[in-house]
Amino acid sequence: MFFAFFILSSIYISKVNGWGVTGHALVAKLAQTMLTKESEKFVRNYLPWYTIGNLSMLASWPDIIVSPNTNPIDYLNWLWSRELHYVNVPDWTCNYDRNRDCNWTSRQRCVDGAIQNYTKQLADINQDNIQRQEALKFLVHFIGDIHQPLHAGFVGDKGGNLIRGNFFDKPTNLHALWDQLMIERRILLDFQNDENKYYDYLFNLLQTTYAHNISQWSKCPSDEESHYVACSTVWINENIELNCAYIYRDEDNKPMNISYEFRLGETYYNTRIGILEQRLIQGSVRLSGVINKIVKLQKHEHHRKKNNDYSFVSYVILFVENLINNY
Ligand SMILES: *[C@@H]1O[C@H](CO)[C@@H](O)[C@H](O)[C@H]1NC(C)=O
Ligand SMILES: *[C@@H]1O[C@H](CO)[C@@H](O)[C@H](O)[C@H]1NC(C)=O
Ligand SMILES: *[C@@H]1O[C@H](CO)[C@@H](O)[C@H](O)[C@H]1NC(C)=O
Ligand SMILES: *[C@@H]1O[C@H](CO)[C@@H](O)[C@H](O)[C@H]1NC(C)=O
Ligand SMILES: *[C@@H]1O[C@H](CO)[C@@H](O)[C@H](O)[C@H]1NC(C)=O
Ligand SMILES: [Zn+2]
Repeated sequence: MFFAFFILSSIYISKVNGWGVTGHALVAKLAQTMLTKESEKFVRNYLPWYTIGNLSMLASWPDIIVSPNTNPIDYLNWLWSRELHYVNVPDWTCNYDRNRDCNWTSRQRCVDGAIQNYTKQLADINQDNIQRQEALKFLVHFIGDIHQPLHAGFVGDKGGNLIRGNFFDKPTNLHALWDQLMIERRILLDFQNDENKYYDYLFNLLQTTYAHNISQWSKCPSDEESHYVACSTVWINENIELNCAYIYRDEDNKPMNISYEFRLGETYYNTRIGILEQRLIQGSVRLSGVINKIVKLQKHEHHRKKNNDYSFVSYVILFVENLINNY
């Protein structure tokens, strides 16, 4: 029953925030290829049984639950999570400042805090299984979202949603163009509208063009971040740099804004599609990296806990022995 509902949901869902269904599925499917054996086992444990550990099947779940079309029964219960998909920075401020833009330590909600929040929950062996399952489903999606540049866009135009115009003569807004339209065009024109062929192409890029970038992309370059499992501020800053240099600029390199209708086509598409693909691939590297790291940490945690249990037992034995000896 739920299975059927889920499948229907994934077909009908289309206009949502975040990479569209396609983008999220691609990121998750690429990530799946970089999971360790242990991580594979881990995700099979923490995803619903019918997915058989397939990350991409649930990659759009956080979008599905907040929409009345796809979750008419209890979307209201999830509305609080809508803010977790993005973060905004002041207009044309070309960097991210956690204190200024999303102070999630004081409960402000945004994708930065969400990723920190759910990595912590997923890694915490004291959380119950339902909580950790939810954390994993959120993480798969949000690490995708945080690599869509306009999910760290400017506050004045709501991450490009309020900047309207035409893309190949089709009316749209800048945000939707990056969520979906460019990917759709790419798959339609260059891959016979076959998502699987496009996946194969991206997988090949990952293994060739970007093979040398993977280890660098997996690291947290800043000291401040290195104690986190996910370097979300670094990823947000990558977006914002792209936003200022390319995403928010039209074909003549002029800044785009809400009071001016853009006309974008071949030039914008040709010079930006490579950026988009790189972001999909980076997202997958970061997603698999975070899961692998959590699984590794958790193994140590289990060992530590076990050792603690043993030491508690030996402590009790010692204590009893002492008692006996003293009598
Ligand atoms: C996971 O499921 C999707 C369809 O939802 C499919 O395209 C993909 O190939 C599956 N991935 C794996 C690794 O089996
Ligand atoms: C962020 O929240 C913390 C904890 O409530 C507070 O100490 C800090 O001053 C806040 N930072 C800003 C810039 O508001
Ligand atoms: C952390 O996760 C919990 C449980 O889903 C949620 O209620 C809370 O709002 C989240 N906090 C942040 C800062 O995202
Ligand atoms: C990927 O690696 C190449 C070669 O090391 C480097 O020139 C390039 O800047 C890297 N790209 C990114 C986006 O990090
Ligand atoms: C909006 O963008 C157009 C085109 O680049 C520019 O002519 C106009 O001055 C901009 N308006 C504002 C308010 O920045
Ligand atoms: Zn999203």
